[in-house]
Amino acid sequence: MARIIDAPLADTGVCEKPRTSGQWGALDAATRRGLAFTQAVKEETDHLYELVEHVIPPVEWPAYAPLIAAINRLKRQKNAVILAHNYMTSEIFFCVGDFRGDSLQLAREAANTPAKVIVQAGVHFMAETSKILSPDKTVLIPDMRAGCSLAASITGADVRLIKQKYPGLPVVTYVNTSADVKAESDVTCTSSNAVQVVEWAAKTWGVDRVIMLPDEFLAKNVAAMTDIKIIAWHGRCEVHERFSAEDIAELRAAHPGVIVLAHPECPPEVLAASDYAGSTAALANYVGKHNPKKVVLLTECSMSDNVAQAAPMTDFVRPCNLCPHMKRITLEAIYDALANMQHEVLVPEDVRVRAKKAIDAMLALPRTSAPLDFEVGRALADVTVL
Ligand code: 13P
Ligand code: SF4
Repeated sequence: MARIIDAPLADTGVCEKPRTSGQWGALDAATRRGLAFTQAVKEETDHLYELVEHVIPPVEWPAYAPLIAAINRLKRQKNAVILAHNYMTSEIFFCVGDFRGDSLQLAREAANTPAKVIVQAGVHFMAETSKILSPDKTVLIPDMRAGCSLAASITGADVRLIKQKYPGLPVVTYVNTSADVKAESDVTCTSSNAVQVVEWAAKTWGVDRVIMLPDEFLAKNVAAMTDIKIIAWHGRCEVHERFSAEDIAELRAAHPGVIVLAHPECPPEVLAASDYAGSTAALANYVGKHNPKKVVLLTECSMSDNVAQAAPMTDFVRPCNLCPHMKRITLEAIYDALANMQHEVLVPEDVRVRAKKAIDAMLALPRTSAPLDFEVGRALADVTVL
């Protein structure tokens, strides 16, 4: 069961979660790096504070601003961009991120940016995707330990064995995987386009079954949306697998009228009990479009802070479910990455070329005007889980 915390902090109305290493950690980190809240830093960052004032009290801003100003200066000096995933804490997402979005949007940006250096404010598989698409750029991840339980659930050798067992079936692989796994795959997908990719693969291969790796729940949620049969792997997201249908019943009882939005990495019973489901970008778009009075996002909890920025009339109920890997990315780690050009993400060329074919196959599919959503309340489909 997810940790349901919705007791707001008295003054900010947000849940207590680590932001960088907290204001004291940021202050200490800035001081140790010789950075201080000077008048120049204040002038450079005042316009950015407006983007985070809903989550950072004014008294804490002098702790964050020196690192933010220094990072933005380093970006200009080094011709670098920061690609910030929707799960980044708000001071990273809004104050140093140049491009913000879900996995698919960040992959597209990585392929197109003219910058020389990409700093991935996300997890390792996202940085690998950027390197695969932009081999001539230097790709940095602020903390090499920023992994993902889905990516860790499967290896390239596993995929080779699966292909031996099911010859002739296309392998559709979620981007939350290593470059080795992508290199063994025919096409990648994200939660923004998974159904589209599965149907395209079945049609292109002329089959009615596809192998879809490695997220068991995403595969089941896709299977409910299509007639294509799916052979899945038993990988799970350690954040989303913890949400349950009972959590939703509890939330609805405690917050009458709350609109429940779920990420498709959640179990199918969760999607069945929700009002809407889709990728992180789809969930953010839903709030922007519908302006619900009260909403809960069943996904990583930093995202509510980011979506709330443009939704001042919406009340967010905040189950507290942090992704420990995403939270390794802090302002101080980003500063050190740019200052010391660390930690460079490299992919062996033979792996990169094969992995790129699978990502390119996804990127070549017709672009939809918005991330594709999942219809909730569908009957469960039969899925073979390896
Ligand atoms: P999105 O593609 O929806 O951004 O999801 C990435 C992810 O890691 C979700 O846990
Ligand atoms: Fe991986 Fe889950 Fe974290 Fe996303 S939230 S990076 S899927 S562990």
